[in-house]
Amino acid sequence: MNTAQHQVNTLLASVWFMETARIRLYEIYAKQAIKDGYQQMAALFIEVAEQKRSHTKTIYRFMEELTTETSVSIKTGAFDNTLKNLEEAALTEQKEAGDIYSTLERMAWEADLKKIAVKIKLFRQIKLFYAGRFTTLAQNIKDGRVFARDEKVKWICRKCGFIYEGEKALKNCPGCEHPQAYFEILAENY
Ligand SMILES: [Fe+2]
Repeated sequence: MNTAQHQVNTLLASVWFMETARIRLYEIYAKQAIKDGYQQMAALFIEVAEQKRSHTKTIYRFMEELTTETSVSIKTGAFDNTLKNLEEAALTEQKEAGDIYSTLERMAWEADLKKIAVKIKLFRQIKLFYAGRFTTLAQNIKDGRVFARDEKVKWICRKCGFIYEGEKALKNCPGCEHPQAYFEILAENY
């Protein structure tokens, strides 16, 4: 393994630790979202965590039989507020995509590690998608749009599947008696 390849591998190790920690953090954010009354957001945090499991597995495969040392920096903070958690997630995904992922992608190309470069590019694009999604979710909380819209929409209860058309999600679901937290806008993408 030459120096360039070794540098790529060391960066891969950093990304692996970083994303593995983020999987755990998003599980914590999901729990908080449930506490704050945002069931759909909790599910989305879990969905991203699961997708990151796939990314980290791929990254781990690239590092097979690697022995290296890397340092990890961590900035911890309170997680008791879903709006702040969403903003943190959006900012971090955006920042990491622009910093370490961009650097890693470039270095992998330069080291002629095309397979790694391509995968990192794809994961970087996915991270930018996450950043956009978290930003929109945060904005919805700020604008009071999570359970209310200006026009009539169809709301579905995540718990029991009850569907209701209106500008606002009902305070309680007539189907299962669960609170408004379980409603989300119905989306059928099939
Ligand atoms: Fe329900």
